[in-house]
Amino acid sequence: MSNEHLKSEGRSYRVVGLPGDGIGPEVYQAARQVLAVLEDSHGLHIDLDEQLIGGAAVDATGLPLPQQTIDACRRADAALLGAVGGPKWDGHPAEQRPELGLLKIRAEFNLFCNLRPIVTHSSLHAFSPLKADRLENVDLMIVRELTGGSYFGEKWRDENQAEDVCRYTREEVERVTRAAARIAQQRNGRITLVDKANVLETSRLWRAVAHEVIDNEFPDVSMENMYVDAASMHLLTRPADFDVMLTENLFGDILSDEASMLCGSMGLLPSASLNEHRFGLYEPVHGSAPDIAGQGKANPYAMLLSLAMMLRYSLDCSEEANLLESSIHRCWNKGILTRDLRPDGYSTTEITDAVCERLTAAELATGA
Ligand code: NAD
Ligand code: IPM
Ligand code: MN
Repeated sequence: MSNEHLKSEGRSYRVVGLPGDGIGPEVYQAARQVLAVLEDSHGLHIDLDEQLIGGAAVDATGLPLPQQTIDACRRADAALLGAVGGPKWDGHPAEQRPELGLLKIRAEFNLFCNLRPIVTHSSLHAFSPLKADRLENVDLMIVRELTGGSYFGEKWRDENQAEDVCRYTREEVERVTRAAARIAQQRNGRITLVDKANVLETSRLWRAVAHEVIDNEFPDVSMENMYVDAASMHLLTRPADFDVMLTENLFGDILSDEASMLCGSMGLLPSASLNEHRFGLYEPVHGSAPDIAGQGKANPYAMLLSLAMMLRYSLDCSEEANLLESSIHRCWNKGILTRDLRPDGYSTTEITDAVCERLTAAELATGA
């Protein structure tokens, strides 16, 4: 279903804020603070409409994605989400699990194209468990199909058996392949299609359809095939060889957490979930991190990089996106990092303040 268009006027935008659960509200607060700086000093107006999702929504309304949240998103240019889930709701029935809120918003807005950029930065090499020489020049984009596969197929369970049907249609594969190909055209023109075509019929459909799309419509893009087991190994041994990695829903979920270790922490990976219109849901790849929630330790960079993606992809504010990213990189160069990366690290709010300081200074320098 598409959302309404033309919500923004000039440099004024509507964004739905979805703090969620666990560290979600902590990293969301960091994004709010950065947005306030951009508003104060960059002539940008963001109408931030905060709504419920996940466990917080279950507690307040009984549903993980209340209708009010859906309606607010339909009026918005983009949504910015912290994280959902936590042990408090783990025993709940499927329809009252926080994660269902996330799956429903992806389905409701047809957010089939999930972009998870993995870019290493030399000042962080020492914080990755991988050897530094493997991390040079890593710049890959995982394009994860987000509204199909076993996440959304028929499901059932009785005492002795259970089933999650993995189903993909030609149209689902075609549209995400086209999205990946357009991204590849802006990059180095190379796609690695990751699947399990030696075992799974869905993977064999993916291979046939994806190659057809590339052969017929994108002569300037090349596509190689790789089995998911081998891909998980090559991601660690030669990550710099990848350009765009295209894969189905579940494989993309797993490979992106693995790839976060190239950067050093889950707390560094942003994501954008897009439909065929401009509406996008922007969120860190990580979850609600119940083990560190409420302690001021959460790494806000994944959230702030997701905000930069939102500024670039859904709000037409690429200058601000560049400024925010360069402010973040300048913090990294100074070792301003949380405790997931270094034991003597800074708190969430200290990091956020440091980014905001640099953002303000950068804006003054450009005369904005
Ligand atoms: P997780 O990503 O929440 O945490 C995994 C590990 O990474 C933990 O040790 C955590 O402390 C650490 N970590 C994650 N983000 C961090 C950050 N920003 N700063 C510092 N450390 C960070 O994954 P999990 O523990 O498997 O899942 C916890 C809950 O989150 C579950 O309920 C799960 O369903 C949910 N989840 C939600 C999302 C989402 O909202 N998009 C994504 C993944 C998991
Ligand atoms: C993610 C998360 C979600 C997923 C969960 C919370 C439903 O792990 O966005 O990576 O599996 O897609
Ligand atoms: Mn995940």
